Amino acid sequence: MGGSQPLADRVALVTGGARGIGLACARELSRAGAAVVIADLLAQEADAAARSIVEGGGQAAAVPADLSRTREIPRIVGQAAGVFGRLDILVNNAGILSEVPTEALTEEQWDRLMSINLKAVFFVAQAALPWMVRQGGGAIVSLSSLAARVGGIVSAADYATSKAGVIGLTRTLARQYGPNGIRVNAVAPGPIMTEMIRHWPEDVRKEFVARIPLRRLGTPEDVARVVVFLAGPESAYLTGATIDVNGGLYMG
Ligand SMILES: NC(=O)c1ccc[n+]([C@@H]2O[C@H](COP(=O)([O-])OP(=O)(O)OC[C@H]3O[C@@H](n4cnc5c(N)ncnc54)[C@H](O)[C@@H]3O)[C@@H](O)[C@H]2O)c1
Repeated sequence: MGGSQPLADRVALVTGGARGIGLACARELSRAGAAVVIADLLAQEADAAARSIVEGGGQAAAVPADLSRTREIPRIVGQAAGVFGRLDILVNNAGILSEVPTEALTEEQWDRLMSINLKAVFFVAQAALPWMVRQGGGAIVSLSSLAARVGGIVSAADYATSKAGVIGLTRTLARQYGPNGIRVNAVAPGPIMTEMIRHWPEDVRKEFVARIPLRRLGTPEDVARVVVFLAGPESAYLTGATIDVNGGLYMG
């Protein structure tokens, strides 16, 4: 307990924690002392991620999850909370990108993206909240995006809309569950070097870097450290906020 392990005895669920920002969140939460459950579509990668945390001396487990199947979410969250017998922190990180031009975007594409990026954020929180209420507190941190702040630059209308939805949802849950000692916040990253944007051509990356005051793209750890801050006691009086993590590209 204490300074270096502010999250000792806490249990965190990280959706989409098999790689990228979610994996960095799982690792940083573990470093802060939390036991971590990774729920991801990539079952093998999630297992490997959990194993690597355990090999490093942490506590971790993986639960296979397709969060686009809304009806399965209560079972998945129940299974995740059951691993260590409680649930204190939820990182709503699983998400997919869309770069489909508006004129070509289909209803199926819209619905699929929304089911993962927005609907699951609500229903995973809905399933997690009773645990936190019973335990007398908790913290939820959801992944929004720069696209919600300034409109999608490379990303499409469905993506930016889903990430703007996350901000409204965050504020609403913060208002509703503040009296229960549950804080609900979001982070809005700019471009972060993960699989999600690895296909971007070099010139697109260079263009972003030239416009970013800190002159580099973000790393998953840049985001994860802010997530851990929002999940932990250092941010005790912070709720309903969306923290921009973008090297200064957008200053809200
Ligand atoms: N990388 C960026 O530039 C950036 C910027 C802003 C916001 N974000 C957001 O951060 C979050 C993490 O993105 P990332 O860059 O690490 O991407 P990523 O593609 O590397 O990781 C996303 C993870 O989510 C999982 N996932 C996707 N669909 C799922 C489903 N239906 N059920 C369960 N898991 C599922 C994937 O398997 C993967 O492990 C996303 O919500 C993304 O929108 C990313």
